[in-house]
Amino acid sequence: MNPRPPPHIRRSARRPSADTAVMSPDLPLAPAGRSRTAWPWPLPALAAWLLAWTLFAAAAALAWPVLGFALALAASALAAARVQGRWRRLLVLAGFPASALALGATSALPAWAWLVALLPLLLAYPVRAWRDAPFFPTPAAALQGLRALTGEPARVLEAGCGLGHGLAALRQEFPRAELVGLEWSPLLALLARLRRRDATVRRGDIWAEPWGAYELVYLFQRPESMPRAWAKACAEMPGGWLASLEFVVPGVTPRAQLPGADGRPLWLYRVPGSLPGSMAAAACR
Ligand SMILES: C[S@@+](CC[C@H](N)C(=O)[O-])C[C@H]1O[C@@H](n2cnc3c(N)ncnc32)[C@H](O)[C@@H]1O
Repeated sequence: MNPRPPPHIRRSARRPSADTAVMSPDLPLAPAGRSRTAWPWPLPALAAWLLAWTLFAAAAALAWPVLGFALALAASALAAARVQGRWRRLLVLAGFPASALALGATSALPAWAWLVALLPLLLAYPVRAWRDAPFFPTPAAALQGLRALTGEPARVLEAGCGLGHGLAALRQEFPRAELVGLEWSPLLALLARLRRRDATVRRGDIWAEPWGAYELVYLFQRPESMPRAWAKACAEMPGGWLASLEFVVPGVTPRAQLPGADGRPLWLYRVPGSLPGSMAAAACR
């Protein structure tokens, strides 16, 4: 009998994308995220600004300028999330509010309407997410060579998956693995879910989620988070792998260091296998 492949492979087999081109030929068709329509720059910015201004003008004509302002900002934020590159993203995001301010179009707005501008920001970056790690995406080639060291795990967690760039890099390495992304920001979690149909993305706290079901946990957080991540891996996933972009676990010898990308190395740690309590704690130090 032919076992049915897991759902993420069935779905993606109908929708090949550029991501699959890097797969080795002996592997089944790799799952991939939804392919992105690549508009040449600056078309994405012009389209985003036009949309924002249309929403603002239409709502203002109906005497709802604050609603129009909020919709225009939300549209700008959504459009910015789909653009590659920090500066381009900023241009798309700031184009509408900056031009509205410069043209005096906001004079009809009450001062508190500017607070509305903070709402998308708070939605995108709730305080806890900002404190644990601000948003920096995993570069596309950052995890290259990981599979050669770990083999292909059955289940992989990306702890703090942002917009899903790390999930895309994991998918390049692990075409068949079940990928799970956890993200505290509701907006980023929603966008990651839309972008990475080949993974399960949930909104949640990486520290509250049990890691025991995963053979490998990948994270790109902050230096301060690493001792906590190591302690959690030691307690919950004996024999598993912890892969961290850029940041080391202080005092713990990594199993390997990979070149990573953009000057950010990838550190790979092997969690000691099951040992009785105090021995496990000692081995993890
Ligand atoms: C440096 S970004 C990396 C994003 C993604 N991993 C990537 O490499 O493309 C860190 C992400 O972790 C998220 N984050 C921080 N603390 C978190 C927590 N306690 N639970 C879930 N997500 C968290 C942040 O919101 C942010 O999106």
